Amino acid sequence: MPEFVNPFTGMVPERKMTMEELVRAVRLDIAGELEAIHGYMAHADATDNPLAKAVLIDIANEERIHVGELVRLLSILTGNEDEFLKRGAAEVDTMVAKIAPPVQATAGGGVPSIGSLKSG
Ligand SMILES: [Fe+2]
Repeated sequence: MPEFVNPFTGMVPERKMTMEELVRAVRLDIAGELEAIHGYMAHADATDNPLAKAVLIDIANEERIHVGELVRLLSILTGNEDEFLKRGAAEVDTMVAKIAPPVQATAGGGVPSIGSLKSG
């Protein structure tokens, strides 16, 4: 979110960041992108104006690309981020396997909605 009240926002510090500080900064940048996606999608959902909705969703999707760029950067900087992400994905996959059958395309070619995961 913008911090216009803080007069020091954006000022370059007296020194460059350490690697640990850079990693934390990139994590914060990822959070900022996710927050932006949330805001754009909430605004798109809150309007019936088709042009505004299309522009907001397009921007939200661009932010999703930025998340991918930053996650890749984080992976390179930390050297082990992918391992943690894979472990998280595997934990969810284990839960999905217990709760619902594997997600498959529907007869119409689409992907099932979350409703398909609800028990009957
Ligand atoms: Fe962005």
